[in-house]
Amino acid sequence: MDPVSVFITGTDTGVGKTHVSSALLLAVRRRALKAFGYKPVASGCLRRGEEWVSEDAERLRAYSTTPTPDLALMNPYALPEPIAPHLAAAHAGRTIELPPLLAAHQALALGAHAIVVEGAGGWAIPYSDHLMQADLVRALKLPVILVVGIRLGCINHAILSEIAIRADRCELLGWVANRVDPDCRFPDEVVATLREELDAPLLADCAFGANIDLATAPFAPLLDRLGLKRAL
Ligand SMILES: Nc1ncnc2c1ncn2[C@@H]1O[C@H](COP(=O)(O)OP(=O)(O)OP(=O)(O)O)[C@@H](O)[C@H]1O
Ligand SMILES: [Mg+2]
Repeated sequence: MDPVSVFITGTDTGVGKTHVSSALLLAVRRRALKAFGYKPVASGCLRRGEEWVSEDAERLRAYSTTPTPDLALMNPYALPEPIAPHLAAAHAGRTIELPPLLAAHQALALGAHAIVVEGAGGWAIPYSDHLMQADLVRALKLPVILVVGIRLGCINHAILSEIAIRADRCELLGWVANRVDPDCRFPDEVVATLREELDAPLLADCAFGANIDLATAPFAPLLDRLGLKRAL
């Protein structure tokens, strides 16, 4: 059985990709299905003993089915510097390459019903001089979900992201309105504008509130659409 695997990108860094990925993982698990998170490339990792560890990968692991795979499989490139991936890799004396990223995804997929892949930053992210984040998405044929952090500037970022995802010949499944900013003025009008301007459908509308337990409900229709039906 091939698992359902989706790629979570965002209009920017810090818009709620990990929040949405965590909620999706938990929503899948609540259907008694096996779900693993995957963070192919993380920069800004923390030193834990002998290892560099991504806080995003740790969060995704916390919401994945137990027993979880090794963190090294859930995050093959854990890079120390809190900068763009290709620069962080260069500062670590490494080059981000496609084969280990494909192999880790394949290993995670064994026996899983769903894989939630969280991208780095926004969409147009170089991994190296020769590799873009989009190359990984295309190689794995992953449908893309765009998380739009509802705040000033997001309309421009969302429209440009949709254009870029399509220009990269990737499938945009839809977008998620993530209400990250409690001070955003007239957020309903922003969401309504995005519904008009984006060709892709709104998949879920996430209220403000960092509690993942409460954030799963808006994803039920998306899980139905992905064919992730309750196992038990
Ligand atoms: N709907 C929400 N309500 C309240 N806070 C939120 C919401 N979504 C995200 N946040 C908070 O906003 C911050 C950024 O979210 P998150 O880490 O998910 O973004 P990200 O896109 O994954 O960032 P990065 O680019 O670093 O991976 C976090 O502190 C998170 O708890
Ligand atoms: Mg994140």
